[in-house]
Amino acid sequence: MARIVGSVMSTHVPAILNAIARHEEADPYWKPFFDGYENVHAWLDEVRPDVAVIVHNDHGMNFFLDKMPTFAVGCAPEYRHGDEGWGIPTVDPYPGHPDLSWHLVEALMAEEFDVTTCQEMLVDHAVTNPMKLLWPEHESVTLPIVPVTVNTVMFPYPSAKRCFALGEAIGRAISSYDAEPDLRVLMIGSGGLSHQLEGTRAGFINKAFDLRFVDSLTEEPAWVTQFSGEDLVKEAGSQGVELLTWLTARAAIIGAARRVAWNYHIPISNTAAGTLVLEPAA
Ligand code: DHB
Ligand code: FE
Repeated sequence: MARIVGSVMSTHVPAILNAIARHEEADPYWKPFFDGYENVHAWLDEVRPDVAVIVHNDHGMNFFLDKMPTFAVGCAPEYRHGDEGWGIPTVDPYPGHPDLSWHLVEALMAEEFDVTTCQEMLVDHAVTNPMKLLWPEHESVTLPIVPVTVNTVMFPYPSAKRCFALGEAIGRAISSYDAEPDLRVLMIGSGGLSHQLEGTRAGFINKAFDLRFVDSLTEEPAWVTQFSGEDLVKEAGSQGVELLTWLTARAAIIGAARRVAWNYHIPISNTAAGTLVLEPAA
């Protein structure tokens, strides 16, 4: 069988990758952010995942506004990093785990989530950023990944309620995966927290909402399902809607969760930067 060792939620601001490439982690601007990953690394050494299911949003690298799946699952043997024009280092392709991908697709379809299946998928900073933050010393990451893409970039977004249900279905699908020995699955939620990059509210951050949301993820993860897509834009900013990836990755831990690590720092670029680790309480 397979089981979830925990969920890591992480901001994916592109500038972080340049800071790593330039070895600026100890600079005063960056230190409070990078310090938040020390206990995440210690925890990863303990739980030793075999594969990562990474819930993220695509930023126009793979899907553009002309074709926008609400939910997509990568089923590719490998995922190449496309050049987005941010000037960030391009990384080696990540290996996929097609067998787990197809199992997820079949289980999700059986639960009436009509996901788009992608046998080719480019990945952008929403994948490379958390991977680099979690395994900074690795020149190339050899841990296989299964990317799950949630549309947080174009209205209408999937509702928080639907993302919560998707996360639960992913959690059940992982439990029903047949593997010997047991496969240790890390969930990753990539994006957030509050931020808005454009328009008259560019630079918008909402600390009170971020903290309430993150608190809810431990004890009452369905709390945020009361908000519509429009509400989430109002509360968290137009890109803060990326918090739906955190919600999905949390909901895959079915039942109670315990907080292992948490760091919050304002701002990194235009973003309220958050790093959270939850593990199953049982
Ligand atoms: C920034 C944040 C994002 O989520 C993103 O995708 C790109 C840029 C930023 O704050 O710079
Ligand atoms: Fe983003």
